[in-house]
Amino acid sequence: MVKLSNLFDKLATRFHAECQLEFSPKIPGYMNKPADSYALVIETDETNALILAETLVDWNLGVHLPEGAGPARLEIFCATRAEAESRLKALKVLAPQAQFGAPTIKPVERQDWAESWKQFFHTQRVSDRIVVKPSWESFEERPEDCIVEIDPGLSFGTGLHGTTRACLRFLDAWQRRQPKAFVLDMGCGTGILAIAAAKLGFPRVTAMDNDPAAVRVARANAVINGVADRMECIQADVARVTLAELKADQAYDLVLANLLADILIQWADRIIAAVSRIPGSGLVLSGIMEEQYEAVRSAYMARGFVEQESIILERWKTGCFRRN
Ligand SMILES: C[S@@+](CC[C@H](N)C(=O)[O-])C[C@H]1O[C@@H](n2cnc3c(N)ncnc32)[C@H](O)[C@@H]1O
Repeated sequence: MVKLSNLFDKLATRFHAECQLEFSPKIPGYMNKPADSYALVIETDETNALILAETLVDWNLGVHLPEGAGPARLEIFCATRAEAESRLKALKVLAPQAQFGAPTIKPVERQDWAESWKQFFHTQRVSDRIVVKPSWESFEERPEDCIVEIDPGLSFGTGLHGTTRACLRFLDAWQRRQPKAFVLDMGCGTGILAIAAAKLGFPRVTAMDNDPAAVRVARANAVINGVADRMECIQADVARVTLAELKADQAYDLVLANLLADILIQWADRIIAAVSRIPGSGLVLSGIMEEQYEAVRSAYMARGFVEQESIILERWKTGCFRRN
């Protein structure tokens, strides 16, 4: 049995860094699939699959990694047979060290594709009360449950990634302590954190992202989840953002920033400026690999924050901080 987990991790990490797509551990790249497609199918072992994956992530193509025993199998989706052939040629040039047998090119039915990826996204309880659910599943909720309906899409944040789950856990706990908090989700992706905040009952929530597609997706998800009236979605860049740009008349009691360690450190002053000056105001910092965490933590401790708690999920460490 080939362990593909390293490959999945690698893809997920790379794409987290690019902050474009969230890859489930089993079906990366599902969203780039055009209507009529061909799959370039390569069977190899885990080591060589990793080498190929390095090249594939740079191409930002749809890649399917079917589960199961046997050799690692990559299905690379292309619009035409000619594209599949030229991708194969390019792969051989760009990853000459990768060893694999004779690849095949097969046509892929749209229907197969549309339905097949659904098996990888299921309802999951992420925290005490927050349950993330795709639209095609039903779920028997408990009285206190907060159901966030998110379908996989083009923006990061379907609730599967460890950084998102950790943020949701902190959010859930924070709501019990400070239910009236004014909440900001910096780098909102699908809007999952902001939507969960609104659905937990926080009265005012802002979601912001520098990617206009993410803002559109977040807005649509807010409508689907029935919280559009309490959730402002704004396109803004952490590097320059001001409260005025966020249409906020005051700084936020709780800021969630699932970005990247580098961004969190470089723009620490900007991020902190969004947090209320009232002692005890909260800041959740995520998108940090375990080994980068200390540098992020120090940057914020030096600026008057104390670490309250941290969670490690799949080698990503998320910290919950309070203003001193
Ligand atoms: C890791 S995703 C987090 C998504 C979601 N909040 C979650 O927790 O799942 C990071 C998001 O930050 C956005 N982002 C990256 N750099 C940014 C910047 N400089 N300003 C605003 N948003 C940024 C990306 O577009 C992406 O949607």
